[in-house]
Amino acid sequence: MHGTVALARIAHTEEEIRTRVRELGAAIRDDYGESRPLLVSLLKGSVIFLADLVRATGRDCDIDFMSISSYGPEHGLTGVVRIVKDLEEPLEGRDVLVVEDLVDTGLTLSYLVRTLRTRQPASLKICTLVDKAVRRIADLDVHYVGFESTEFLVGYGLDYQGRYRNLPHILAVADPSVLASRPDALLSRHPDLVFPGPGSRRS
Ligand code: PRP
Repeated sequence: MHGTVALARIAHTEEEIRTRVRELGAAIRDDYGESRPLLVSLLKGSVIFLADLVRATGRDCDIDFMSISSYGPEHGLTGVVRIVKDLEEPLEGRDVLVVEDLVDTGLTLSYLVRTLRTRQPASLKICTLVDKAVRRIADLDVHYVGFESTEFLVGYGLDYQGRYRNLPHILAVADPSVLASRPDALLSRHPDLVFPGPGSRRS
């Protein structure tokens, strides 16, 4: 393995994620008090985070799912999205918490938040596993953040072309252009190449 450049490193271990999700769950439980929040998961990346987060709140919450699709790049950085699958729950009068895996430019969520506000929720907040705040273009309040990052991440719901969502940890990809030419690159390598360093391998 000597002299080989690692494709990725573990940015957040399984244990680190578990601890952070527990903290977020406790904060949500405290903040919402007696209210029963409706957690809205944006498919697909956030489902793994949502599943752990809802249990970390230690209380009964409503959950619902929404699937959106961004218009192509030819439409520019408008953030305009099309709702592919809408919510089943009405939002009027509800305390709504949108759960995301990643907020990057913020364009997707700022558009979505404007749409959801027209349904007159009592409150509307955002919780994201990863926040790339330095890349923000849209003006957006993000209320709960798992991890700040500037890196290209996969794992724990975060994907590259649908791959790697199942990883229990979050990997930072050293050179995303490698994935562009070989999307399976992290699957086919020996784990020592992908997860270098002492203590970085997890059972
Ligand atoms: C990710 C994420 C947000 C969006 C954030 O979705 O879930 O919806 O990108 O980007 P923005 O802040 O720049 O608008 P993705 O397209 O990866 O879909 P997925 O959740 O199905 O993986």
